[in-house]
Amino acid sequence: MRSLIPLTLLIAVFHTPVHAVTFPVHIQVNRNPSPSLSRRTPVPIGNIGNAQYVSNITLAGVTLPVLLDTGSSDLWVAFPQSPPAGSIKDTGKSLTLSYAVGKASGNIQTAQIQFGNYTLNDQAFLLVNDTSTFTSDIHSQGYDGLLGLGPNTGSLIGKKLSGSTGYSTLQRLFQQDKMTANYISFLLDRKSDPGEPFTGQITVSELVPGFENITSMPILDVETVNRILKGDQHWQALTDKNNGITGPDGLPIQLKSIVPNAPSGQFVAVIDSGFTFSQVPRAISDAIYGRVNGAYYDTQNEWWLVPCGQYLNVSFNFGGISYPVHPLDLVDNNFNQIDSTGKQVCIGAFQPITSAFSILGHYDMILGMSFLRNTYTLLNFGNWVGTNGSQAHPYIQLASVTNVAAARNDFIKVRLGGNDTISDAKWALLPASQMQHSPISAEEKKKAYEEKILSRWPYILFGCLMLVLILVGLCIWRCCCRRGQKEGTGGKRGFFSRKRGGVNQKRSSYVPLSTPDRSASPYPPQNAGAFAMSQQHLHEDYGRGGPGFSGHRQV
Ligand SMILES: *[C@@H]1O[C@H](CO)[C@@H](O)[C@H](O)[C@H]1NC(C)=O
Ligand SMILES: *[C@@H]1O[C@H](CO)[C@@H](O)[C@H](O)[C@H]1NC(C)=O
Ligand SMILES: *[C@@H]1O[C@H](CO)[C@@H](O)[C@H](O)[C@H]1NC(C)=O
Ligand SMILES: *[C@@H]1O[C@H](CO)[C@@H](O)[C@H](O)[C@H]1NC(C)=O
Ligand SMILES: *[C@@H]1O[C@H](CO)[C@@H](O)[C@H](O)[C@H]1NC(C)=O
Ligand SMILES: *[C@@H]1O[C@H](CO)[C@@H](O)[C@H](O)[C@H]1NC(C)=O
Ligand SMILES: *[C@@H]1O[C@H](CO)[C@@H](O)[C@H](O)[C@H]1NC(C)=O
Repeated sequence: MRSLIPLTLLIAVFHTPVHAVTFPVHIQVNRNPSPSLSRRTPVPIGNIGNAQYVSNITLAGVTLPVLLDTGSSDLWVAFPQSPPAGSIKDTGKSLTLSYAVGKASGNIQTAQIQFGNYTLNDQAFLLVNDTSTFTSDIHSQGYDGLLGLGPNTGSLIGKKLSGSTGYSTLQRLFQQDKMTANYISFLLDRKSDPGEPFTGQITVSELVPGFENITSMPILDVETVNRILKGDQHWQALTDKNNGITGPDGLPIQLKSIVPNAPSGQFVAVIDSGFTFSQVPRAISDAIYGRVNGAYYDTQNEWWLVPCGQYLNVSFNFGGISYPVHPLDLVDNNFNQIDSTGKQVCIGAFQPITSAFSILGHYDMILGMSFLRNTYTLLNFGNWVGTNGSQAHPYIQLASVTNVAAARNDFIKVRLGGNDTISDAKWALLPASQMQHSPISAEEKKKAYEEKILSRWPYILFGCLMLVLILVGLCIWRCCCRRGQKEGTGGKRGFFSRKRGGVNQKRSSYVPLSTPDRSASPYPPQNAGAFAMSQQHLHEDYGRGGPGFSGHRQV
């Protein structure tokens, strides 16, 4: 009952050294892909203390665990021993990748990669030799790199190398397979949960056995919200209208989205497997934890600390479906936090969004591992893959794997010593009037202000351009008018002189802004080029500040 596929079988499958032999057959068979021909198998996902999820890749013959990150699109690796010379080619191009918690820099290299049953030659990746900004020793933390599972257009390696040589691993897998269904799906397991029914696994263009009916779940189109920057695309979905999140009191948490184009009453949520803790607007984090008896806010770590026995019932709603969050995920005990008296306390794993705050106003929240353990997640790349893929928009499908009643029982077993004391007075939520609010830092206020401006900069820029054009138009018009005056044509003159009365010369030129003379207003089409250029510029400055992954540094 613990797993759908015995772990031993998965490991055995994974270690079968058959790739090279069967691969040529694989290509030929693949011309007519049939769903009944199950040629591949899910790749196991290792769970490092409910904080990181890794899968093995084999790069240049070396098997390495890499973090799985749906929030970025590049592959980087730091070999624990010296990299196997001879099987790696240096492109000579250097690059730095920035994440929410650290930087990875080095030279872009190419080598053969194996992921599950797949093999790709000359896969581009960043060979990193200094990972100190992540944590002192990533290898001892259980990983040697990161595999970005985002859209190929987000790949910075791809931007450095010309043509298809810099394509991301997934992009090349999809293209090699020439499948029309270009998707990945994954299940993240939960450590120290007696009721956990499956093991973590990831698939490429196939479904995890037993979870096939995820395909009948609502399709969450990632393109519904326009972005200012085309390149800054994420796996994102809109929550349900006026009921995006059901709070612990059973009522929807109401808040206005920071995303200018978001439909009213809906939030933009990014699905990012790279974040240990979900990043939500401060008001939402407060609504979840601020009414817990004995909860207090840790301003240094920017998270709520909550008594570990606190049962909370919260769900996120997408496509009319409720996705409950396991109480063990809402109140997290994986990081040995203690209070000033030495007593164990738990972390509110839906943390106020601070460093990952979208200054361009592209999203409200990032749903990381603390949410994704509760869903079987399918990410369909649609037209992100290119001409051979589906022309449909990329989309997300989520199937809930958390049963509220069973989760409640697990919580009683694990946190309350088997005694159902959930309805005891000491666990009751404080009245809404006594809700605690976490403090907003000065930096956060500044960011919120900047977001208001930056997320609307095309409109502001457009407004400024209009103003300039109108002024230029006016100058021309005025010159003509002057000439007209000299030449004695009186129609416009009368109007002009009338407005002029009592107002100084300079001011008078602004007056016709509200007149019907719109000759200067049409937006010149050639401005589109300049517009795109400044977008690119902004992207380089701000684009990387978005979702990355939140590693052990947070703990
Ligand atoms: C994939 O793995 C399965 C399970 O071991 C194996 O039967 C199959 O032949 C492999 N296919 C390829 C193309 O490597
Ligand atoms: C990765 O491979 C190592 C051995 O090479 C194995 O011990 C480990 O369990 C594998 N991890 C996963 C997540 O499959
Ligand atoms: C990383 O590699 C560069 C050259 O590729 C080298 O100059 C540098 O010393 C290396 N850094 C470390 C920490 O090994
Ligand atoms: C599309 O498929 C054809 C062969 O069927 C291949 O030659 C071409 O490179 C593919 N193009 C892309 C963009 O994947
Ligand atoms: C998925 O399958 C289960 C059992 O196999 C069934 O109970 C459930 O209704 C199905 N869900 C959907 C959305 O089809
Ligand atoms: C959890 O919340 C939902 C929605 O508010 C409610 O329907 C359900 O009864 C609650 N379950 C438990 C076990 O508290
Ligand atoms: C559970 O309840 C029993 C009897 O009510 C009590 O003896 C025991 O101490 C309780 N255990 C915990 C962990 O509270």
